[in-house]
Amino acid sequence: MTYSQLFESAKLGKLELRNRTLVAPMTRVSASASGCVGPLMQPYYERFGKGGFGAIITEGVYTDQHFSQGYEFQPGITDKTQAANWTELIKGVKAAGAKIIMQLMHAGALSQFNRFSNETRGPSPVQPKGQQMEFYRGSGMYPTPSEMTVSEIKTAICGFADSAKRAQEAGADGVEIHSANGYLLDQFLTDYANQRGDQYGQGIFERTRLTREVLEAVRDAVGGDFTVGVRLSQSKVNDFEHKWAGQRDDAKVIFEAVEASGADYIHTTEFAAQASAFQHGASLAAHAKNLTGLPVIANGGLGDPAIAQKMILQDECDFVAIGKDALVTQNWPVKVQKNEARRPFDFEMFTPLADLETANAYFSARAEI
Ligand SMILES: Cc1cc2nc3c(=O)[nH]c(=O)nc-3n(C[C@H](O)[C@H](O)[C@H](O)COP(=O)(O)O)c2cc1C
Repeated sequence: MTYSQLFESAKLGKLELRNRTLVAPMTRVSASASGCVGPLMQPYYERFGKGGFGAIITEGVYTDQHFSQGYEFQPGITDKTQAANWTELIKGVKAAGAKIIMQLMHAGALSQFNRFSNETRGPSPVQPKGQQMEFYRGSGMYPTPSEMTVSEIKTAICGFADSAKRAQEAGADGVEIHSANGYLLDQFLTDYANQRGDQYGQGIFERTRLTREVLEAVRDAVGGDFTVGVRLSQSKVNDFEHKWAGQRDDAKVIFEAVEASGADYIHTTEFAAQASAFQHGASLAAHAKNLTGLPVIANGGLGDPAIAQKMILQDECDFVAIGKDALVTQNWPVKVQKNEARRPFDFEMFTPLADLETANAYFSARAEI
């Protein structure tokens, strides 16, 4: 099998990608303590470009010097110094023929480490479910966040807009607004995490307000020609089984809201991208395709190219983003095209930490890097 449909060029927002395969955003906590690009990051990202991916979505990058940082050694793009550090990395990825989209992320109540504050903020003072992630140096429960004031919400929105502008100036091909997986914007979308009585809470449309306002502010900052996408999910890093209570009705409100707010694409992520999003019926990606006119990236368990290609052929999505399988096979597109064997993902790569030093040690023990 050659999986030729995966390797046709296609348009994502304003970008022409050489094929339909992307690297999913993956936090690697390998920046400097001050949030600047670390020495292992550029070669890591370049390997995906040389490995044939159409585009790389970066790990979640924090957006302000208030409450956005989620992890120790997470990169940021909150000032000129951090932004300047991205320039060379971005150049290197582009020279390898791939596009690079920076994911902008505010951790909100899921922050495990923030060098700017010991407190966390969220839509409401609701303790997040689950435990902090140890492979990002967390431990124990998440603290209960303080409710964000409207002024703090406006500051967070400005953080996204200013960071998007800095990413554009650093040469990125686009930005992706992280509104998935339990982080701040998803906390606002989520019924139990958002108990606000104001314009940012209550009904599902009101709960999309923060994501809408971020998309609009980012669009104002970067202009019409720059690609701005949005990532959405049901499940969360701290609540894997979560489902949107209103099912397809919620999907309709959410997907239509992001389209109306100027998103160029929707990136959906599920444990198994091709599975029914609700009790039965279409996948989440297919709902996004059916409910909007936007290109859709599907993610979740698509390292098997047969499943990935099938989703494209069935018009459930336009692009696929590969996560863990891309980490073990950084030239996944080249290998798939040549029909060569690929290594299965091995959790050992993240032990003890999901950082690049651990991954490089894993590969060098196997003489593969
Ligand atoms: C180590 C690691 C870090 C991740 N970091 C992020 C992130 O920064 N932003 C994000 O949206 N998703 C993140 N994810 C989720 C992935 O983008 C993807 O949704 C998930 O791995 C499922 O896709 P897969 O089955 O192809 O691995 C991360 C996943 C892993 C394994």
